[in-house]
Amino acid sequence: MKIAVAGKGGVGKTTISGVLARSMARRGSKVLAIDADPAMNLWLSLGVPKSALTGITPLSENDDLIEERTGARPGSVGGVFSLTPRVSDLADKYGIRGPDGVTLLVLGTVKSAGGGCMCPANALLKALLRHLLLDREDVVVLDMEAGLEHLGRGVVKGVDALLAVVEPSFRSIETAYRVKKLAQDLGVKRIYVVGNKIGRSDEALFVKGEVERLGLDLLANIPLDRSVPDAEMAGLSPIDYAPDSLAVRAIEDLTHRLKTAVS
Ligand SMILES: Nc1ncnc2c1ncn2[C@@H]1O[C@H](COP(=O)(O)OP(=O)(O)O)[C@@H](O)[C@H]1O
Ligand SMILES: [Mg+2]
Repeated sequence: MKIAVAGKGGVGKTTISGVLARSMARRGSKVLAIDADPAMNLWLSLGVPKSALTGITPLSENDDLIEERTGARPGSVGGVFSLTPRVSDLADKYGIRGPDGVTLLVLGTVKSAGGGCMCPANALLKALLRHLLLDREDVVVLDMEAGLEHLGRGVVKGVDALLAVVEPSFRSIETAYRVKKLAQDLGVKRIYVVGNKIGRSDEALFVKGEVERLGLDLLANIPLDRSVPDAEMAGLSPIDYAPDSLAVRAIEDLTHRLKTAVS
């Protein structure tokens, strides 16, 4: 099962990705959590200790590796580079082992194709994502900055479900709608909205109403829960800091619903 998590900044994508990955690993899956957000803070929601990250370079900034695999050094002008670099060993080589056996892979930013950059770094990341989404058995949870557009059709086909996370705000729901349209055009099979930071019943009603109005599909609601930012301040994943909290329980329930929806 390959799950991509998208949505407006700050809605809770990273929190949900981290706890979802842990919860799937606890249910016995071999999980690969991919951080493709420029903020690169998935480690915290996964509960990977900060010390495990020292000396880790995101793959998009690993110029030596990019040159070794594509044949061109990032920043070099006019060079010819391979669009099909060898990538099958990278998850094992650069993945960081986290709690419950989750592997964290820090990609760094995949620049938008619209930004005009088909550069060696992007060639490597694209090839890697294609391999991870299409060729590997592992469960993949992909934490992303925005949408899936830059990945291209062939890669996106490997995504079993896209979660568009929203909070009770009009703008986050508009973003989810845009994400859905783009993902649909790219051929993503299942696209679900996940409501997060739902504090009051009128907020739940607002999200439900807007989601229905836009023809979206609401899979789950996760409550506004103080233990989520508290876990961050303690440097822990919510699943370790407050395993019985309402937010963690709701994400565990989401894991269950996803499995049912995708199988
Ligand atoms: N259910 C929740 N209840 C309370 N705060 C939350 C919840 N989910 C996320 N947050 C807080 O919202 C902020 C943004 O969350 P984050 O997961 O980093 O969002 P994103 O990855 O979408 O930018 C963080 O400070 C996090 O602690
Ligand atoms: Mg994030």
